[in-house]
Amino acid sequence: MTTLHVTGGTPLRGEVHVRGAKNFVSKAMVASLLGETTSTLRDVPDISDVQIVRGLLELHGVRVENGVDGQLRMDPSHVETARVADIDAHAGASRIPVLLCGPLVHRLGRAFIPDLGGCRIGDRPINYHLDVLRQFGASVEKLPSGIEISAARRLRGTKLDLPYPSVGTTEQVLLTAVRAEGITELRGAAVEPEILDLIAVLQKMGAIISVDTDRVIRIEGVETLAGYEHRALPDRIEAASWGAAALATGGDVYVRGAAQEDMMTFLNVFRKIGGAFDIDDEGIRFFHPGLPLRSIALETDVHPGFMTDWQQPIVVALTQAEGLSIVHETVYENRLGFTHALRRMGATIQTYRECLGSTPCRFGAMDFRHSAAISGPTPLRAAEIEVPDLRGGFSHLIAALAATGTSVVHGVELIDRGYEHFGDKLAGLGAKVEREEREEPEKLVVV
Ligand code: EPU
Repeated sequence: MTTLHVTGGTPLRGEVHVRGAKNFVSKAMVASLLGETTSTLRDVPDISDVQIVRGLLELHGVRVENGVDGQLRMDPSHVETARVADIDAHAGASRIPVLLCGPLVHRLGRAFIPDLGGCRIGDRPINYHLDVLRQFGASVEKLPSGIEISAARRLRGTKLDLPYPSVGTTEQVLLTAVRAEGITELRGAAVEPEILDLIAVLQKMGAIISVDTDRVIRIEGVETLAGYEHRALPDRIEAASWGAAALATGGDVYVRGAAQEDMMTFLNVFRKIGGAFDIDDEGIRFFHPGLPLRSIALETDVHPGFMTDWQQPIVVALTQAEGLSIVHETVYENRLGFTHALRRMGATIQTYRECLGSTPCRFGAMDFRHSAAISGPTPLRAAEIEVPDLRGGFSHLIAALAATGTSVVHGVELIDRGYEHFGDKLAGLGAKVEREEREEPEKLVVV
């Protein structure tokens, strides 16, 4: 258990550098399994999710080496079946093993998925993944220890229509279809920038993939693929998180590496709230211009909508805006749980089961508090907090930085999954933070 002591009240000022996107890098690492030769990925961040995927690849016989400045070389020439117990022990906190299925079935005829982890932001089932693998001709068998996927012959291309534009399932289809026999047509695909960058990687490896404007992706299967060399696209979630932190603390942060084209929806919202930004070729400067912030009505959505992963950091900034803001979370049913801690810190936030947005979503008829009304501005005060999930946890740090007093934030190792060296970066921006590693979790005192 790692605890961060955060003394708030100091506006964040300075520069941070954002490297490759967590939600692309992990998938590009999996793609290396499909090649006959070594792949090289650049700008890989030093985060614990990368270590988990690296471990999984190594368990399957891939030789992984670090180069200078975030370079990762992956040699898949000796791919082998891993021991079920090892995969289970290693994968604990990650959902990545499900994406290894297609590549491993192509290479070895079988794959195994343990019980999957990931952030506690909803049920996070893998039914779409298993359905598409079956449609490629794989057999899916549920065992007490997990799920075994196997195929006696080469997987076959197929016509697929997703019930929801799921990011992971679209990646599953891409990683499976590229080496399947014949053509795969995927309707209702997710088209996030991280997915388009994965398609770029696969094309470098020898795949034939076309993307239409209507969420249709066509893949012509090929027999073999080679390794790739690629620089990862920047992490637009981390970039937006620093932007929200600058705004909530009344600060001024230059995010080197932030790319406008992948963040346009975030930038529109940031401007509507009253935040300011300057864009140049190397990054984006986010700052609070000194005028009162404005409330907003916001709905999360798949790309090109407002990302669900931007929702939590921006909610913290909205606690400092004048008037009533409405946030409707339509991607995950349970991504507003982090607001409990914000309420303890003095924020005025109500959550609702109803869809408080212009578009009713699939959670409207269910028992999930997936809409929020945030009334501001409210001064925030320090609290003792336990990190609930990656983005919620970083958002708690932002709240602690904007608050008066010293907050004690437990379980920040979850934040290490996706925010590279965030403690050093915070200190570099003038934040007063102290990291404390503990052997045993201590009892929480709720204030
Ligand atoms: N869903 C199903 N069945 C499935 C798969 C998904 O019902 O088999 C549902 C999910 O429960 C969710 C919705 O579909 O309600 C969307 O899930 P999606 O598959 O798009 O998400 P994911 O691939 O599991 C990735 C990112 C998330 C990010 C989402 C949405 C990774 C490793 N994770 O998750 O990132 O929020 O896409 O953009 O790429 C994070 O970085 O903190 C994070 C949670």
